[in-house]
Amino acid sequence: MKLKESIESVRKTFRADSDPFPTDIRSIEALRVKYLGRKGLLAALFSSMKDISDNDRPLAGSLLNELKQEINSVFYVNKESSETNQVAHDESDYTLPGLKFPIGHIHPVQQTLDEVKSIFMNVGFSVAYGPEIDDDFHNFSALNFPPEHPARDMQDTFFIDPDTVLRTHTSNVQIHLMEEQEPPLRYIVPGRVYRNEASSFKSYNLFHQVEGLYVDKNVSFADLKGILTYFVKRLFGADTQMRFRPSFFPFTEPSAEVDMWSEARGQWLEILGCGMVDPEVFKSVDIDPDVWHGFAFGLGIERICMLKYGIDDIRLLFQGDKRFLEQF
Ligand code: DAH
Repeated sequence: MKLKESIESVRKTFRADSDPFPTDIRSIEALRVKYLGRKGLLAALFSSMKDISDNDRPLAGSLLNELKQEINSVFYVNKESSETNQVAHDESDYTLPGLKFPIGHIHPVQQTLDEVKSIFMNVGFSVAYGPEIDDDFHNFSALNFPPEHPARDMQDTFFIDPDTVLRTHTSNVQIHLMEEQEPPLRYIVPGRVYRNEASSFKSYNLFHQVEGLYVDKNVSFADLKGILTYFVKRLFGADTQMRFRPSFFPFTEPSAEVDMWSEARGQWLEILGCGMVDPEVFKSVDIDPDVWHGFAFGLGIERICMLKYGIDDIRLLFQGDKRFLEQF
């Protein structure tokens, strides 16, 4: 029987090829493909079974199965003991789920900032940015702080030189916006601000503000109240009690501060400053105060963040302690 001879010849070549059994994984794989692969020698023998007479088929089948078993067992025995295989056979369990990479958290200050931004963007404000290092004109003079005016004492300033400061508030960007663009304007300006003061649980050298500026014809204090009331209720809930309290800022007239009632602390807490843009400010950027009116506001993000999340020390927000940050 021709098939019988073919079987014997494959057995012979296999014995020659597999003794000594290869040690590197590529040669083992090549050997496996040659004999056991889908187009390997064994598969060829099996497919020639169909050409064999019914009488010879049982014998041929059993010879072929024997060969297959021999080849398989040589692989089995040698693969178990081959050095290459021991490397692959380390302690790892590749069926275990992978380790998760820590993906971090959005900082609570950023979360608060994102929320404030989205509330104002929903009512048509765009977001603008401005310089953190600025000149006296934009940070003070154009905002109606005269050179010796006591209002400058409200801001403990880091000076880079006598005319250059780390901005003490985001109000400097009001001036940049009005210099660069024609009204109407409707912007919020998030950003970092700096104050030269001792750190404590309630103050830090660096913090974040969001400035608002709305300039148009026929803007009134009622518009200011409407927008800021909407903002506070969106941020802290519709039932939040709030009040506008008269105040003073050099760049707004009249000016106010907004307080919200804290049930937890049983007291009014200041959350932002605001007012109608002072005509002197419009004049400093060549906008005609008889035609254009506007309101502005400024709020401290850390303060709002602390109120929202019940954080009682601002310094926690700047220490980068994961145990703290992971809670948000
Ligand atoms: N710039 C003020 C500050 O840093 C906050 C502020 C108050 C901004 C009233 C305004 C405003 O635009 O109208 O304390």
